[in-house]
Order: sequence, then C-alpha cells, then structure tokens
Amino acid sequence: MESLISLVNKLQRACTALGDHGEESALPTLWDSLPTIAVVGGQSSGKSSVLESIVGKDFLPRGSGIVTRRPLVLQLHKIDGEREYAEFMHLPRKRFTDFALVRKEIQDETDRETGRTKQISPVPIHLSIYSPNVVNLTLVDLPGLTKVAVEGQPDSIVGDIENMVRSYIEKPNCIILAISPANQDLATSDAIKISREVDPKGERTFGVLTKIDLMDKGTDAVDMLEGRSYRLQYPWIGIVNRSQADINKNVDMIAARRREREYFANTPEYKHLAHRMGSEHLGKILSKHLEQVIKSRIPGIQSLINKTIAELESELNRLGKPIAADAGGKLYAIVEICRIFDQIYKEHLDGVRPGGEKV
Ligand code: GDP
Ligand code: NA
Ligand code: MG
Repeated sequence: MESLISLVNKLQRACTALGDHGEESALPTLWDSLPTIAVVGGQSSGKSSVLESIVGKDFLPRGSGIVTRRPLVLQLHKIDGEREYAEFMHLPRKRFTDFALVRKEIQDETDRETGRTKQISPVPIHLSIYSPNVVNLTLVDLPGLTKVAVEGQPDSIVGDIENMVRSYIEKPNCIILAISPANQDLATSDAIKISREVDPKGERTFGVLTKIDLMDKGTDAVDMLEGRSYRLQYPWIGIVNRSQADINKNVDMIAARRREREYFANTPEYKHLAHRMGSEHLGKILSKHLEQVIKSRIPGIQSLINKTIAELESELNRLGKPIAADAGGKLYAIVEICRIFDQIYKEHLDGVRPGGEKV
C-alpha cells in the first residue's frame, strides 16, 4: 500500500496545483476517473464483509438476509494528522469519530428512504472517511442480486437490482470484486454472470470466494481456487470472513484476520495456496492493480501537461511582456507539476519517461 499511497499523493498534488489555479484542464477530470472498486454478488454472499476488510474498518451493516438496501458510495480521503473521522453527504459538517455510529447512521438513512421494509432504493448514500491510513479511493457497496421477489418487494425487484448494479460496474474504470460463496455452485453465481456481461475478457474482474469455512464436510474449494471450475483472468482469492456468530460476539477485525490466516495455513487442502489467500492478500492485489492502472494513464496525463505548457507559451506570446500576474501563477503551477512528475518517473516508473528518456 505504501508505494500506491505515495504515487496517488503525488498525482493528487499535481491535480491540486492545476486545480488551485482554476486551470481548465483535463487533469482534474482524469483524477475523477481513477478507478472505483465495487462489490457484486448474490444476497448474503459476503460483499459488505469483504469491503469492510479492504478498508480495514468496522462500519458497514452486515448480516443474513437483505441488509444493504441502497448503494453506499464510500470515498476514502488521505489526510495528515492522526484523527480519523467520517462524514455523510446528507449530514454536512457532522463529524463521526465513532464508527459504530457510522453503521447506525447508514441503517437509519436506508430506512428513511425505503421505510423499514425489504424495499431497495437506487439512491446512493455518500460517505467519506478521512484518515491518514488510506489511499484516495472510491469503493461501492451494493445490494445483493436476487432471483425472486420476497414478501413486501415488488415483482420488478430482480431486474431493478440488476440494473442498479450494472449502472456501477459497466463503467470501464470500475474494478469489480465478484463475490461468490464457496458453499454454492459457481455455475449459478450471480456475480460471475453479471461481471462477465460487462467485462467479458475479465480485465477488471477479481473473483472472490467467500465462506470457505462453511463448505460441507468432505468437500473443498481447491478446484474453484485453482481456476478449474471457472477460469478467470486473475487468480481466484479465497476469503474467510467473520461468521454471524462472530458478528454477534463483536469479534474485531484484527482477530478475524489472524484466524483467517491460520485457517488457510493450517487446513491441509489449502496449505499450498495460503500465500495467495485471505483478506490481506486481496488488499495487496488490489493495491498493485490500482498502481498499474494509474501508471498506465500517466503518459496521457503527461501529454495533457505538455499541451498546457504549449498553451501557456502561446498565451504569453500573445500577451507580450510583461507577464501578467495570472500567467505567472500558471507558470508556477506548471513548474510545480513538472517537478512532481519528475519524482513520479524516478520513483514509480523506473526512471524512464514516455519518450524513453532517462530522468
Ligand atoms: P452481503 O449481504 O453480501 O453484504 O453479505 P454480508 O457481508 O452482510 O454477510 C452476510 C452473512 O454471511 C453475515 O452473517 C456474515 O457473517 C456471513 N458471512 C459472510 N462471509 C462469511 C464467511 O466467509 N464465513 C462465514 N462463516 N460467514 C460469512
Ligand atoms: Na446480507
Ligand atoms: Mg451487504
């Protein structure tokens, strides 16, 4: 995560340098288009649990049945200082430092929109977490896909949820965590079905197999985890989240991760796979993937900056000297950006600029 945090921070500084100056640039737009991560899958497959684990915080409603009933768009913001806090868009200026209250507010705000029913609403809840320990990133928790409407739900619910989920994961900058429970047949996995639809080559889909601990005695997930049941572009990652009993007993995340590690290391069937299993490994894989995606976009950003320099020069020519105060400010912003990019090339791109020139 360290290297990703440092890369993203530098990019953010470059964006701020331009943005502060009110520059009409595509760079901030590019910033907005950085990847988001969304979890998809059937109801109670473990989506909210996996998302919490990636963030490393307990703050989402989880449980059996239909718990997540509105999309939750979670923005992580890296800040200096030590104090972590959360804010909801619908409650501006109210800072939450107790994450149990964040969970309660998600539940209450869900009920405000839908009533305390099994209804679903496509209106997202926007939550921001500010912390020194995160990377600037957007994650989305989504209601589970279902096969049939239950009591209190309209018949259209199955298609409605599908459309809602699709509207998030069809965006090319969305990284899909396709969550399937190991105690169900992969052939019937809703997660696989819908992610294949929007990402047929599997270039941005990560297969996550949850509930490995809940499989029937005498069966195991080795065929699934080794890609023999369903092949994906990236290797499957097995997860053991907290069970409902763990949730009821308030087992914390550190203890849960330790147990998950021990589970894979100590179960004979999975020992040989242990190094690429578990929530921590999933976090690392995502971090590496994000870094790759961001790096692949840097040459595009570089050409935007060059364009800005060219535009600045022509503007200076047109204005003639002396340089207006405004143009001086722009110049300063661009020098600052070039400095940051030099650093990025040195530290993240093995010192080579797009033209092949060494920094
Ligand atoms: P979601 O509906 O897909 O968001 O799933 P949740 O994260 O809310 O989890 C649904 C239920 O399944 C909760 O009771 C969890 O405790 C339980 N659960 C999720 N993943 C696992 C797992 O890997 N192992 C076990 N034993 N239970 C899990
Ligand atoms: Na659930
Ligand atoms: Mg959920």
